[in-house]
Amino acid sequence: MKIMKYINLIVIMAAIAAIVSCQPQDKKSTAQNEKNTANIPNRKWWKEAVVYQIYPRSFKDSNGDGIGDLKGIISKLNYVKSLGVNVIWLNPIFASPNRDNGYDISNYRKIMKQFGNMNDFDTLVSEIHRHGLKLILDLVVNHTSNEHRWFKQSRSSRNNPYRNYYHWWPAERGKPPKRYSYFDVDHNAWKYDSTTNAYYLHYFGTFQPDLNWENPKVRQAIYKIMRFWLNKGIDGFRMDVIPFIAKDTTFPKMPAKYHGNWAHFYANGPHLHEYLKEMNKEVLSKYPNIMTVAEGAGVTSNEVLKFINPSRHELNMLYNFEAIHLGMNPETDHKVGPKRFNLVTFKEIYTKWDSVIDDKGWGTIWLGNHDTPRMVTHWGNDTPKFRAISSKMLTTFLMTMHATPFYYNGDELGMTNIKFDSIKDYRDVATLHAYQHLKETGGNLKKFLNREKLIARDNSRTPFQWDTTRNAGFTTGHPWIKVNPNYKTINVETEERNPNSVLNYFKKIIRLRKKNLILIYGKYTLLDKDNPDVYAYTRELNGKKDLVLLNFTTHKAQAKLSFDMGKARLLIDNYSTVPDANAIKTFTLRPYEAAVFELR
Ligand code: GLC
Ligand code: CA
Repeated sequence: MKIMKYINLIVIMAAIAAIVSCQPQDKKSTAQNEKNTANIPNRKWWKEAVVYQIYPRSFKDSNGDGIGDLKGIISKLNYVKSLGVNVIWLNPIFASPNRDNGYDISNYRKIMKQFGNMNDFDTLVSEIHRHGLKLILDLVVNHTSNEHRWFKQSRSSRNNPYRNYYHWWPAERGKPPKRYSYFDVDHNAWKYDSTTNAYYLHYFGTFQPDLNWENPKVRQAIYKIMRFWLNKGIDGFRMDVIPFIAKDTTFPKMPAKYHGNWAHFYANGPHLHEYLKEMNKEVLSKYPNIMTVAEGAGVTSNEVLKFINPSRHELNMLYNFEAIHLGMNPETDHKVGPKRFNLVTFKEIYTKWDSVIDDKGWGTIWLGNHDTPRMVTHWGNDTPKFRAISSKMLTTFLMTMHATPFYYNGDELGMTNIKFDSIKDYRDVATLHAYQHLKETGGNLKKFLNREKLIARDNSRTPFQWDTTRNAGFTTGHPWIKVNPNYKTINVETEERNPNSVLNYFKKIIRLRKKNLILIYGKYTLLDKDNPDVYAYTRELNGKKDLVLLNFTTHKAQAKLSFDMGKARLLIDNYSTVPDANAIKTFTLRPYEAAVFELR
């Protein structure tokens, strides 16, 4: 009897929570929030925001050429607004020969012609702002395209005024010391150029020469570009591989400990933090309301505060890569689902970053982007039985952590890896060149293709799935990369109609985060840390405590906790039925279940 009453109470509470969360202007909860958070220091809009990353090439095509574009994005701003997110991050939209989909820029002040023109861009900015959203652009200044005017000048002669805009190693000094490249067929970051009998440095493709930040003229030229875009009213930057910009131009031998982990070496150039401070002083500090986030490739938790501690006047946030290699183990990556990575390690990493940053800065949280597999394939389970529920569980994690979530377009639908069978379907230079390398060195191509089904970047770059019409409503033409055939069931139109869809859950939990500042600012504490199946933590603010429980497995799992759940209130659950009272009391979760409680 008592239990029945309890269940009823939970059902009623859940219903109330659902009703309340449907009202965007809930005065009472706002007032409540204000009261609970009156003494939160350093509140900032970007700490309270959810960032939504749009991959412009694959979002929406407006003119039938098979490539997404700015007009396409403009036409879908109502959709973006409906999600409840606050900031749009656009991958590069600048003029580019597109050998790395815009990460090879040939003109920083022009829009990529496939994406539109400057008028379209100005309209996009004003429309984004009219929708109450903000816009950050991708600042790609570790390197340019080899078709950039600066590089054309630089390579033309040894005494050209632009020579020192890039890193050159004269061939008469012999071969330059080994540096690894990400996309080069031979993994060699020095490319010989016969015009001036010298090698130039490129950490990425041969078509992406690294800029010489040691040259103050380069830095000033970049600051001017940044001001140009900020003066157009954008709200900040995501900074592409920014930790790599500084180099020791004597190019010493790379210490052996960095072989296999050269990103860490690249991320520790001698004058890096001087340059970031200078950038802050000359540009960022003049626009006090913007947000900046570093792509933290190669940065460890020991170094993060150097970038983001406000007293250092560098950047606001950095997103880290420490957990990203988990689940990409070649021995186990063919397995779908829970046994692919060790949840205890996963928890340790996120907990460590949270405790290092603590109140000395502000963190970020993300599980997928245009460089990784799809979130649900990588971290959840993309089989039909568990795809939706595990997507919702992962979203619950992102939206209840003590950091700003960066969420990749399509993950809100539970989009999955496409898993191409043939190399012909791939477009990404990283995959194509790695394949070429293996072919030339007699590697195992079959094994490689199998592995790419999990890790290839193109998996997350397939067209956004809008509806059930041809090409998922992305284009009326021929898409630049294949559409995932599962678009017939996984798409916006279908999911908007289904109250239990992955999409509607995403909207619901964003509303919960917004209403409940504990989920943003509250102190994070990991519980039951050795539990291999469940990720459990509390968030605590001004004496109020929320409990988050996440089951990362396909089976029932239990957390070892000792709260009195008698008065706990369920705030959200990814199942359409609430857990039974006994499950709550014993902290037992259904497969991939995610539940958030307010403890009292
Ligand atoms: C970053 C980008 C990636 C790009 C690389 C080189 O990691 O996210 O897409 O290929 O930098 O610019
Ligand atoms: Ca187009």
